[in-house]
Amino acid sequence: MRSNKADKEAALAAKRHAAQAAIERIPHDCLLGVGTGSTTNEFIALLPQVRDRISKVVSSSEATTALLRDLGFEVSPLSQCGTLDLYVDGADETDEHRRLIKGGGGALTGEKILVASSRRFVCIVDESKRVKLLGKFPLPVEVIPMARSAVARKLVAMGGQPQYREGMITDYGNEILDVHNLKILDPEEMESEINQVPGVVTVGLFARQRPEVVIVGTPSGTCTL
Ligand code: 5RP
Repeated sequence: MRSNKADKEAALAAKRHAAQAAIERIPHDCLLGVGTGSTTNEFIALLPQVRDRISKVVSSSEATTALLRDLGFEVSPLSQCGTLDLYVDGADETDEHRRLIKGGGGALTGEKILVASSRRFVCIVDESKRVKLLGKFPLPVEVIPMARSAVARKLVAMGGQPQYREGMITDYGNEILDVHNLKILDPEEMESEINQVPGVVTVGLFARQRPEVVIVGTPSGTCTL
């Protein structure tokens, strides 16, 4: 039987392999968007290797901004950049069609804005994130605080069990509901439906704008979806 330590090392190696494969996809003179999370952190750690290929970098969250600045990158506001060339980010779940659940780290709004602002989106995950059907991971929904209960009632009517994420205030001063036990049979439709509920800022379904590739890291290398 593998030890806990060996499992952790294998998981970290998988994330690093996916991160390195994404580094290799950064073109010259790249206006780069950077996501949030532990897999993306491995990507950020490798960015100094390709500093000369990056013309500007835009961040999806305050946490990522801090890491980029620590490495000496100047982080540009999205509003001062045009369309980004490439956005790289992780995910909490991916199905075989590259439809994602994101927002486990609470940065879903910045992430969705950067996906929508980028020509290309490359997603990096380890094997544990692959699922047949989205929804085992509770679906994060960012809500305006005054609308929290109203949105929660709508989510219950859709068949979910929303749970308030205690102590979480997003970069934009909002709250998160994590919705358990949703049957996500049509992710595109559900993304639109939840987005339209008044008070919802962002739903963590990324099905309408999918990554061009999901790089799945394994302990020994990568494969792609
Ligand atoms: C943050 C996200 C992350 O991409 C997602 O939670 C995956 O994180 P990790 O790589 O740590 O598993 O959506 O809002």
